[in-house]
Amino acid sequence: MSAELPASFWAIGGGKGGVGKSVTSLALAYWLGRLNKKVILVDADLGGANLHTMLGIRIPQTSLDDFVLKRAQTLDEVLIDTSLPNVRLLAGGSEIPSLANPNYGQKTRILRAIQKLNADYILVDIGAGSGFTQLDFFLAAPNRLVVMSPQPTSIENAYGFVKAAVYRHLASLLKTTTLKGLLDGTGGADGRGVPQSCEEVLAEVESHEPTQVPAVRAALDAFRVYLVVNMTRTARDEKAGDVIRKVCERFLDIDVTCLGSVPRDPAMERWAATMGKDSPGKEWSEEVLRSTYQVAYQILTRPEIARRAA
Ligand SMILES: Nc1ncnc2c1ncn2[C@@H]1O[C@H](COP(=O)(O)OP(=O)(O)OP(=O)(O)O)[C@@H](O)[C@H]1O
Ligand SMILES: [Mg+2]
Repeated sequence: MSAELPASFWAIGGGKGGVGKSVTSLALAYWLGRLNKKVILVDADLGGANLHTMLGIRIPQTSLDDFVLKRAQTLDEVLIDTSLPNVRLLAGGSEIPSLANPNYGQKTRILRAIQKLNADYILVDIGAGSGFTQLDFFLAAPNRLVVMSPQPTSIENAYGFVKAAVYRHLASLLKTTTLKGLLDGTGGADGRGVPQSCEEVLAEVESHEPTQVPAVRAALDAFRVYLVVNMTRTARDEKAGDVIRKVCERFLDIDVTCLGSVPRDPAMERWAATMGKDSPGKEWSEEVLRSTYQVAYQILTRPEIARRAA
């Protein structure tokens, strides 16, 4: 995708459904808003938008549909206020079923419009899955957060999501070369299968397109993913982030930073069951509030993030 998004832009994704991507996006919006930052939450779960419901808005007055259908020319016109201080919402649409798989033109138009939004933080909640839509929204962001739970299936899916994102990113770098099909399985220069690690990718690039080696290396060096492990129950669960970090470093040669873990909270489950009756944050446990504050605090203060936002 060509649209470059501003440094304040965070994409929150990670293959598996139901691991807490939306809740984490809400929790970060809650804290950043309370810390006096202007926040725009973007519901980019294009096939199953539900952030508005979590915010107690039954039917959003305006949504992404209005922009896609050109009833509104800018995204600013379709933002709605929420019960959270300093937090506005770009509600996901529901009128256009095909928007779950937007075409290239629609995707680029949406990303360009997000680029023009004015806020301290723009948090984009991405839907489940590792399809091109999810990957392109994730890759468009300068800051990428993966939410996972400690379950083995979630660890597996989080790794699969990050790997798919890295491969798609490299594939776009190599798309005008003889290695065009190397990373999507349609075939590399000598018809071999998809490389299983970035070391194998680099070996292919070295032997077939040596002039591209510096660009591929630079892309891998610059590729950073942040992680949150959600719904932990034990100290061992909290270590799930280390598993992903090690596997990503070993096979993908990228930097993974765990921003923390959030415990499973019966109060949050109860809040979810009565969705919308209470504002997010109000009924959550102390532990969830403390742990999500710590993640938000790192977003505000980590030097490499602040430097990008400067
Ligand atoms: N830390 C937690 N403790 C208890 N329940 C949680 C926690 N985090 C999320 N949940 C619950 O898990 C459910 C799924 O959360 P959420 O909708 O945020 O997941 P998701 O990853 O966005 O799902 P989808 O992929 O469908 O968009 C919700 O009912 C939510 O309340
Ligand atoms: Mg969600």
